[in-house]
Amino acid sequence: MADTVTITDNRTGKKVECPILTGVYGAPVIDTKTLYKELEVFTFDPGFTTTAACKSAITYLDGEKGILLHRGYSIEELAKNSSYLEVCYLLLYGELPTEDQFGTFRGHLNKRNMVHEHLERFYTGYLYDAHPMSMLIGVTGALSSYYHEAMDIHDPLDRELTAIRVIAKMPILAAHCYKHSVGHPFVYSRDDLGYVENFLNMMFSVPMREYTPNSTAVKALNLMLILHADHEQNASTSTVRLAGSAEANPFACIAAGIVTLWGSAHGGANEAVVKMLEEIGTVDRIDEFVARAKDKNDPFRLMGFGHRVYKNFDPRAKVMKQAADEVLAELGIEDEMLEIAKRLEEIALKDSYFVEKKLYPNVDFYSGIILKALGIPTSMFTVIFAVGRTVGWIAHWNEMISGSYRIGRPRQLYTGYEARDFTPLDKR
Ligand code: CMC
Repeated sequence: MADTVTITDNRTGKKVECPILTGVYGAPVIDTKTLYKELEVFTFDPGFTTTAACKSAITYLDGEKGILLHRGYSIEELAKNSSYLEVCYLLLYGELPTEDQFGTFRGHLNKRNMVHEHLERFYTGYLYDAHPMSMLIGVTGALSSYYHEAMDIHDPLDRELTAIRVIAKMPILAAHCYKHSVGHPFVYSRDDLGYVENFLNMMFSVPMREYTPNSTAVKALNLMLILHADHEQNASTSTVRLAGSAEANPFACIAAGIVTLWGSAHGGANEAVVKMLEEIGTVDRIDEFVARAKDKNDPFRLMGFGHRVYKNFDPRAKVMKQAADEVLAELGIEDEMLEIAKRLEEIALKDSYFVEKKLYPNVDFYSGIILKALGIPTSMFTVIFAVGRTVGWIAHWNEMISGSYRIGRPRQLYTGYEARDFTPLDKR
């Protein structure tokens, strides 16, 4: 039997045979590239719900079964056994590092963990209460000005160096966003600290006293960065690929990814969850908010619920939920917000509206609770997500540029005016 699908245009009886391509896992895809040539039609798929835009060997996820694999390793195993930097290496190079490789990788990162002193002046252009994501977009985009002329994106070594640079510098940019918002002096990166310890040090240390990051915070943040490291062709990664396909500067591409991540339907949901839980305020008001989420005439949605791909459970949410319990227990925090979150989850999981639409808590439902417990301000939540996702963005950019790609250029179904004559201004 041929691995093809025949599409017939019932208006004309013309047919086109499209190849079916099969990956290692997941639904096969129909290659529709010849559709326009043969039938003069395009496909229509707003939101790309059934369109594969690329081939990729980085991450696989099965939304029905709740499976997430990075380079073949399950997210549960990586979360339990590895560090964020090991996951970075895995996503970038395709294999877990040996001790030697890991040492070299860390050395490369340490060599690049400074930003040009001038870049710090960008922050002063922002008001102290500017949203940190807004600052992060600006300063990440500005990095492109330091690495442009000398970089050849078609040179694998330049791409590797770019990946190292962006992973090394993103925590610095992120911590500076926080420092600017609280008016504290910027703290330099330190080679003697691990990636997560260093990030916490840049966020929370001040010149007057010693700062030692809390081990619970280090563990939790490491986990959070792992859980956010990559997620296949999500909106922000697709943005990075799209910008990259035009051969834009990679730092500018990452800035574009940060723009998309900020949206409340994407990474901005972690901040939105906490705001929603605060608005609910007490357990007895949950029913009111659940009713609003179900009301078609009310735009309110339960933040942290639902996912385009996961229709059973989000495996990251399971790990995150357990971590939230542990962090609160270890830090001795009794948070009413967690109670509200748990009750909300119980109620929504039993409610036929959420059950029928397969709306389950996603990763952002619990991540905000952990970050809040660690003393990280709400407006920084999506920034932390961006720090973690940076490796995913750059790994996908690198994969795309190192293979064959064409500029991303979707089609449209035009619904505007037919051609008409211009009327001069004085005649309108
Ligand atoms: N609360 C109430 N109803 C919802 C929700 C929700 N959170 N999410 C989806 N629905 C309903 C929606 O109204 C629609 O109903 P109907 O079929 O009657 O029109 C149905 O469920 C399908 O929703 P959709 O918007 O067509 O689904 P989507 O795949 O386009 O959107 C989503 C996915 C994540 C944007 C959406 O579920 C949502 O807005 N969730 C809240 C925001 C959120 O938590 N985002 C974080 C996603 S996970 C982190 C990440 O990877 O970025």
